[in-house]
Amino acid sequence: MANIDLKGRDFLKLEDFTEEEILHFLDTAEQLKGFKKKGIPHELCKGKSIALIFEKTSTRTRCAFEVAAHDLGAFTTYLDPSGSQIGKKESIADTARVLSRMYDGIEYRGYGQEIVEELAKYSDVPVWNGLTDEWHPTQMLADLLTIREHFGYLNGIKLTFFGDCRFNMADSWMFAGAKMGMHITLCSSKRYFPQKDLVERARAIAAKNGGSITLEEDPKKGASGADVLYTDVWVSMGEPRDAWAERIEDMKPYQVSMDLMKAASPQAVFMHCLPAFHDQGTVIGRQVYHEFGMSELEVTNEVFESEQSIVFEEAENRMHTIKAVIACTLV
Ligand code: CP
Ligand code: NVA
Repeated sequence: MANIDLKGRDFLKLEDFTEEEILHFLDTAEQLKGFKKKGIPHELCKGKSIALIFEKTSTRTRCAFEVAAHDLGAFTTYLDPSGSQIGKKESIADTARVLSRMYDGIEYRGYGQEIVEELAKYSDVPVWNGLTDEWHPTQMLADLLTIREHFGYLNGIKLTFFGDCRFNMADSWMFAGAKMGMHITLCSSKRYFPQKDLVERARAIAAKNGGSITLEEDPKKGASGADVLYTDVWVSMGEPRDAWAERIEDMKPYQVSMDLMKAASPQAVFMHCLPAFHDQGTVIGRQVYHEFGMSELEVTNEVFESEQSIVFEEAENRMHTIKAVIACTLV
């Protein structure tokens, strides 16, 4: 831990970091979480300024960045999906060069990974990926910390992801798990399996760390013996509204239910990056119910509200881990 220096680094995807560097983020987050709980001030970034660009909506990521920055003594500016010139009147390259004259760090949430990569290329200050279609690396740090807190270790943990395995969350899990020597199973029908080249890259990393990546179509087999059952929304931000009809049909067998939880290890936990469609408490949840008759989608309300569900510990850890990313890369 002593020799790890991440100052000035971008945080674009976990694949760019070594296992030791990822552990350094987690250890820092654990320390900062302890300070926060005990009320010990930790204004490590006093006087720094942070720009938060959100081209997609957010609750957790935005709030985590704002609270983390505040605790660290830094100032933030929030640029919402319509409130700036980005992409419409000003290129990403120009935006990066303007913002890096004013800010010490830039968070970006948006569509293609190439946009955040371009921002980082032209920025003189660290750029942090707050979610793209391809990756969600700050979510991964929170999830790893939550699993380590719960089980006491990461190496050898069996995690099964159910749902669309071609998008940011499943792809991120392949690499986060591979780096930490975990056994990751992606469970879906074949047409939702991840791109072959990504699987090969992740498998090569997993092999070095004693982990594995498995693709599975059978939900019961996928759940069997798992320590963590993980799922995500069936239709992600930026996907068309009319994707729901087909997606519901294809994803139905992969809904995380008590039956699947029972197939997992007796001490298994349920995790979800959130937001989740587990009841009728959302506009989209109600629309989907009226149109397709399904009142719970990727997870049943019973599982979501069960003792095995650690989703709110996970959500809290978004803040502590994002704080670690800001602190480690700025000072
Ligand atoms: N998990 C997550 O990224 O949540 P938000 O979309 O609310 O930021
Ligand atoms: N796959 C989801 C993750 C949300 C945190 C999305 O991109 O909408």
